[in-house]
Amino acid sequence: MEASAPAKVILFGEHAVVYGEPAIAVALNLRSRVRIFESNEYRVNGYPLERKYHGYILNAIKLCWRGPPLEIFTESEIPSSSGMGSSASISVAMVAALLSTTGKVKEKEVARLGFEVEYETQGRASPIDTSTVTHGKGVLIDRQKRENFLWRIEKNGIYWNIHHVDVPRLKLVVGFSGIKASTGEMVAKVRRFYQWNSFARDVVREIGRLTLRAIGPLENEDYEEIGELMNRNHKLLTILGVSHPMLRKMVESVKRYSYGAKITGAGGGGSIVVLTDEQDEVIKALQAIGAQGYKVEISNKGFSVENQN
Ligand code: MEV
Repeated sequence: MEASAPAKVILFGEHAVVYGEPAIAVALNLRSRVRIFESNEYRVNGYPLERKYHGYILNAIKLCWRGPPLEIFTESEIPSSSGMGSSASISVAMVAALLSTTGKVKEKEVARLGFEVEYETQGRASPIDTSTVTHGKGVLIDRQKRENFLWRIEKNGIYWNIHHVDVPRLKLVVGFSGIKASTGEMVAKVRRFYQWNSFARDVVREIGRLTLRAIGPLENEDYEEIGELMNRNHKLLTILGVSHPMLRKMVESVKRYSYGAKITGAGGGGSIVVLTDEQDEVIKALQAIGAQGYKVEISNKGFSVENQN
């Protein structure tokens, strides 16, 4: 059985979405793939399955598999710990491959189990990454149920209503700092701040409000306004403590070529996302300071089961 899922980039709302605030993300044209075969022992890419190295795969098996041991092969075009959802993509592809052995796989079920896998592995998570890479295109999370509702996910008293959202063909660059940061640790860091500090809770709510304000400009393709809101979201994420000197340098370096730029994903390293008309200039500016730039396209394709028998 073979399944694949795309990468994602969060345009608005990371971290705040963990507390039930709104977020908007899009799927990208980079993918990861998993292939599974029945075997007499569990192996991943030729190595024994170990929690330390294969946490997401192991939790997907625990949640979705009752069959014999499996030989698993993974491949990914998504740099790991880059903020582009490599772990969500592998989790969702793995869940889809496992479920597809017993019949047709439903989007909603893959999204729910993919979220459980991430939650279990990271210690805490929102469904923004896993729902986006399951559905493809654009996804909006809001507390309120809106038009284009897809599914609802609940965990520990927090709930998220997941919606499809139409996002125009944005010209985006993802700038990768090359610094790997653990999502679980960054989420835990913000959580400590959020629990003990009412100012942090205000910042989280402000990120939520700002995310909702981005829906209109996205629909109207108002790039100036989208960029302005991205810049503001970046400042709020910096206040939450998830920036890094390199990310600050990267955002500065692309300012003159872009409408807006912000940390995307968990931060602490990882990546920024840049909205621009000058993708090549942005990539050159990032390279000049030792970062990498990826010209990315929004993907309409979510998870897919490639060769179901
Ligand atoms: C990570 O891509 C996004 C975070 O908001 C964590 C999550 O939502 O699970 C930082």
